[in-house]
Amino acid sequence: MYICICNAIRETDLRRAAVQNSGDAEAVYARLGKRPNCGQCLADANAIISEEREMAQLPAYAE
Ligand code: FES
Repeated sequence: MYICICNAIRETDLRRAAVQNSGDAEAVYARLGKRPNCGQCLADANAIISEEREMAQLPAYAE
């Protein structure tokens, strides 16, 4: 699924970039060589970035 139509950024690529880079959606887009155009995706992109970073900090499941 594309999260940013203007830049053809897929959710999977955004999630990967979120844990490899710091900053907000605009900063992560810049790391991907993109920049916002219409800006309609930014709120959702920021939510996905926050979610992915939170999940990356969770400890591995242990029995
Ligand atoms: S949909 Fe991302 S900038 Fe337009």
